[in-house]
Amino acid sequence: MKYIIAIIQPHRTEEVLEALYKADIHLVTVSEVLGHGRQKGLTEVYRGHREMGALLHKIKVEIAVNDAFVKPALEAIEHAGHTGNVGDGKVFVLDLKECVRIRTGERGSKAIG
Ligand SMILES: Nc1ncnc2c1ncn2[C@@H]1O[C@H](COP(=O)(O)OP(=O)(O)OP(=O)(O)O)[C@@H](O)[C@H]1O
Ligand SMILES: [Mg+2]
Repeated sequence: MKYIIAIIQPHRTEEVLEALYKADIHLVTVSEVLGHGRQKGLTEVYRGHREMGALLHKIKVEIAVNDAFVKPALEAIEHAGHTGNVGDGKVFVLDLKECVRIRTGERGSKAIG
């Protein structure tokens, strides 16, 4: 099992979620976050506005998946999140040791999807 954390541009959120749904990935957590990458947030054009300042608005998408879904998830995020501009974001893939569905007590792969 893996835990995928993607930081994406807010204006790509719908496309990324749609691509994940098409890859049969429906269980996600989405948060609004602040961050900066290697440009340190100094200048980044977003919908024509040049934002100044240290922290930029980003969307964090978190997905816990069985191993078979790692590749499709990454492809969906990379494809749908890509504009080619700085700030497109990053994806982190972590080993996931356990998952528990609280309602049923199921664990591991059974609990994840
Ligand atoms: N190493 C990191 N650790 C934690 N968060 C990160 C890291 N790199 C990027 N992020 C998060 O991802 C967001 C988008 O990063 P961004 O795409 O700007 O990365 P980058 O390395 O600067 O690449 P690029 O040159 O394409 O802009 C950042 O605002 C930050 O929230
Ligand atoms: Mg950057």
